Order: sequence, then C-alpha cells, then structure tokens
Amino acid sequence: MTEKDFIPKTYNNFIESGSFTWSSPSNIALVKYWGKKENQISENPSISFTLNDCKTTTKLSFSKRENTDSFSFEVFLDEEKKDDFKPKIETFFKRVEVYLPFLKDYHFKIETSNTFPHSSGIASSASGMSALASCLMSLERSLSEVEITDKYFTQKASFLARLGSGSACRSLEGDLVVWGKHKEIDGSSDLFGTKYPYEVHTNFKNYQDTILLVDKGEKQVSSTVGHNLMHGHPFANERFKQAHQNISSLMKILKLGDLDAFIKIVESEALTLHAMMMTSMPYFILMKPNTLEIINKIWAYREKTDSKICFTLDAGANVHVLYPENECEQVCEFIKNELVAYCQNGHYISDRIGFGAKLL
Ligand code: PMV
Repeated sequence: MTEKDFIPKTYNNFIESGSFTWSSPSNIALVKYWGKKENQISENPSISFTLNDCKTTTKLSFSKRENTDSFSFEVFLDEEKKDDFKPKIETFFKRVEVYLPFLKDYHFKIETSNTFPHSSGIASSASGMSALASCLMSLERSLSEVEITDKYFTQKASFLARLGSGSACRSLEGDLVVWGKHKEIDGSSDLFGTKYPYEVHTNFKNYQDTILLVDKGEKQVSSTVGHNLMHGHPFANERFKQAHQNISSLMKILKLGDLDAFIKIVESEALTLHAMMMTSMPYFILMKPNTLEIINKIWAYREKTDSKICFTLDAGANVHVLYPENECEQVCEFIKNELVAYCQNGHYISDRIGFGAKLL
C-alpha cells in the first residue's frame, strides 16, 4: 500500500445529514516510537498493547452545506464547547483532506468524552484521533459507491489517525499492534498500524495494565517537541536500530511466553525513552521522584515474590504497571498497599488489554 491507495475515487452516493459514533481506546507501547520523519512517519517500528477501558467515545454529526471553501466544525468535550481543541482538528483536517475530499462539503459537530479524566496526564490523542478517524471512515463508507472492505476501512482509519497523532494508528485493533516497517513482520507498514500477525503465548492474553497517576498536570514536553529532539540527537541512530532488534527479540518472547525476557525488553524500552530525553539538547527529566519510588518498589517486590510484574512509561511521570492476569489478586493488593501512596491524590486506573475501536 502507498499513500495514493488512500485517495478515493469520486463518491456517488449522496447523504444530506446523519451521525456516527465510535469508541476507541488508548494504547501502551512496549517498544516505543520516539522520533519521526516528515508526514508523521516514525523513525523506527513500535509495538503496543491496545487498552480496554481507557477510551474516547466520539459522535460525529454531519450536515451538507453550501459554502465549501473552508472547514466548518464545532467541538464539544463532555457536552461543553471546546474552541481550544479546534486548531488541532483544523490541522488534522488539512492533513487528511486529500484522502477525504468530502470534508469541506459538510458541517461537523464533534462530541467527545473520555473514560479517564482529561487532566489525568493520560494523553487522549491516541484514543481521540482514532475515534474521529473511524467516524470519518464510516461517512466515507456511506458515500462510496464501491464497496469498502473491513480491511481497507481499518487500514485507512489507522492511516488517518496516524496523521492526527502518530501513536493513534495503533489503537484501531488489538490486542497487539505493530506500526512501522519491520523486516520480519509481514504486512507491517510505516503508513498504518497492523494487528500483530503471529502466534502469541497464553501468558500474554488479557495482560493487565494499572496506570499510576503520579503527575496529572500538563505534559512538561509536548510529544511534538519531544520527537523533534531526536533530530540530530547523538544517540538517535543507535536507538532506532535497537528498536528493530527489540521487536525481533520480542517476537520470540511473545511466542514462547518468556515473561522474564519480556520484562527486560519492556523496562529497558521505557528507560531508554527517558534516557533519550535526558541526553537531548535541550534535556529534560520527565520522571518525578515518585516515579522512581514506584520503580524501586516494583523491583523489590519482584525480587521478594518472583512476581512477573513490570513497568513501562510514556513521555511523562505516570507509571504503567504491567502483569499477567493470573497475578491480579496479589499485584492489586501490592499496588493498593505500597504504590498508591505515590500517586497524586491516590489516583490510579485499572485497565487491561483490549481489541480496538468499536462502532456504537
Ligand atoms: O503519538 P505521539 O506523537 O503522542 O507520541 C507518543 C510517543 C510515546 O507515547 C512516548 C511512545 C509510543 O510509542 O506511544
């Protein structure tokens, strides 16, 4: 597939007005995307667990209009008008207009809500952009005279979501999604996310992710600024190579169910992401003291109990605690007794892996 394959032929069906509602989850990367080329193409392949409960629901209502030389839309979060969201959506519409030529023919009302609080420090861009992209694909499917297959629908929704926010392209399906060309993974592409196509051991089924909210404030470094810091970064090329190797290693681990090896890759990836930010110019420390407290507690607990618990991080201070389903009871006790104290206002979110976007 190339970009051109996502430019539609003419639409023949006519629709005056209507609406579509989709929900789409967040995702958590095991091998991280950090650093991008032009047009939101990642410098290296990444792989993530799709989440289940952290999600955005978006209703896209549309009505035909006369004036077609600009985009026309309004945005609501939890029923409240959000004009400050408009520039991001305007940029998204501009980027995808060539792939969705009907965008200026309609007025859109975008009503969105998240299952997680907006100020939780959990980025809503992955779930939000994938939900919006799915709604737009539903409209394209209705307008299109030629049949749009489910495969094309998902690929193009992922392709569009990527143009909104890179990692959003990994939220359409589950439970494991790869984005970025990797030589050992058939069908992997720089343009969109694809469901991991190989055997996965039952150890990794229904994996749990408890998100510890250490810092619920605004991100200290936006991901756009963060990705840019990889341009000219002295260790960037080695890092991009390492991501390819880590995915190759992870493929074996996923097949064999090797939880100890899984932990090593996942924790190393999280720390490498942060190391990249500490060694860029300008440099940033995105962890907080409580992030480190939690990491040390997790290591001590693992040492003491032989648990397969581990952590990963996004570009911020919150900690994703990952563990197999069969450890739920003990690990939840441990989290409540020993880790919650390090969360801002004691807040955390219990999630697990899920299967992607859904039409409601
Ligand atoms: O999708 P973006 O541009 O917000 O980048 C997200 C990058 C990380 O969350 C730090 C890593 C990843 O692969 O999701």
